[in-house]
Amino acid sequence: MTSHNLDGFKKAAALKAVEFVRDGMVVGLGTGSTAKHLVIALGDHVRAGMKLRGVPTSQETATLAREVGIPLLDSENRWEIDVAIDGADQVDPGFNLIKGGGGALLKEKIVAASAKQFIVMVDHTKQVPVLGGSFPLPIEVIPFGWGSTAREIERVTKSPVILRTRQGAPFKTEAGHFIVDVQINRIDQPAELETALNSIPGVVGTGLFVGRTNIVIVGTPQGVQTLHAPQR
Ligand code: 5RP
Repeated sequence: MTSHNLDGFKKAAALKAVEFVRDGMVVGLGTGSTAKHLVIALGDHVRAGMKLRGVPTSQETATLAREVGIPLLDSENRWEIDVAIDGADQVDPGFNLIKGGGGALLKEKIVAASAKQFIVMVDHTKQVPVLGGSFPLPIEVIPFGWGSTAREIERVTKSPVILRTRQGAPFKTEAGHFIVDVQINRIDQPAELETALNSIPGVVGTGLFVGRTNIVIVGTPQGVQTLHAPQR
């Protein structure tokens, strides 16, 4: 499967997600290659007269949203977000996610948590029977004492931790934090793991999104599937 094929499935999922956006809504705009398709399609709707306001989860998304004409809400605000729409790195059958491959997990989680509805768009390769394994779990940490924080994360997860780097230097998030990636073979109890990781001093947030997703839209070679989470 080439990345070109996968991009087509991502785009198909994003175009389906756009159908959940109604005139007048405030929309949380995710980050990544799938979210890019979403933002471009929403821009088309805005130019056709739809009234929308966006809350971007990264500078990259904010720049694209402005380019395509989506008005944005102030980043330091008390938003009333109708729907947040984002990609993911893995989705399990219980609608739990790993996110943060692009490093925007903290803003993405804040926006998802502020939204009345959270919709996730993926290509079919992101669906997994259990989280972990092929995709390491990103965890955002405070740079101060990050090595000690990483040691605690290793103790809790019993898994190796790697500091994410870019061009030889630690990767810095937009909030000025570091990210460590944890290679966990199986995450059988994501809620318990998220709670345990969040209680480690120095951890700002994890890429585990548990119990937050209402709808998963999957682009597959057979077409687009829309999966609804059971009512919580
Ligand atoms: C960024 C994310 C992205 O949603 C995730 O990495 C999926 O990216 P893509 O749509 O490019 O496959 O969590 O922090």
